Amino acid sequence: MAKLPIQFRLNGSDRATFVDPASNLLDTLRRGLGDFGPKYGCGQGTCGVCTVLVDGEPQLACLTLAVSCEGRQIETTSGMADGPNLHPLQDAFMDHFAAQCGFCTPGMLTAARALLAKNPQPSREEVVEAISGNICRCTGYEPIIAAILAAANAPGARRA
Ligand code: FES
Ligand code: FES
Repeated sequence: MAKLPIQFRLNGSDRATFVDPASNLLDTLRRGLGDFGPKYGCGQGTCGVCTVLVDGEPQLACLTLAVSCEGRQIETTSGMADGPNLHPLQDAFMDHFAAQCGFCTPGMLTAARALLAKNPQPSREEVVEAISGNICRCTGYEPIIAAILAAANAPGARRA
């Protein structure tokens, strides 16, 4: 099947590639563009490890057609740090030991980033709701929730 050209902004940079019409965004990011921030877990929309931001909204990249992202702004954890300075959420995840194996971490960070961008002072319940689509097999969730609540009070936590 003929490949289609596609262009979008990825973590602030213009990127262009060719994709199969049925390719999902996760494959395009990982295999096509070498952004291994978003992970492949279930591939069917149930684990959340592939979560990226599309025009600021958390979206499951495994269920998103790449061609639907033409002209959109895609953000992944690969672009969260500002040079050597980690994003406050990344710092808080380290401070609170919110990553063990780390497989869920990119999706968790992305879901949290979207939450704090819209709701800079979320309640615990709102944090739980925001990460409800992200499965963690290691932490029991409490360190992750604590990290997100702590990051909400850190300077720059709403940085896109
Ligand atoms: S890999 Fe996308 S939700 Fe699991
Ligand atoms: S830290 Fe291992 S799945 Fe969350």
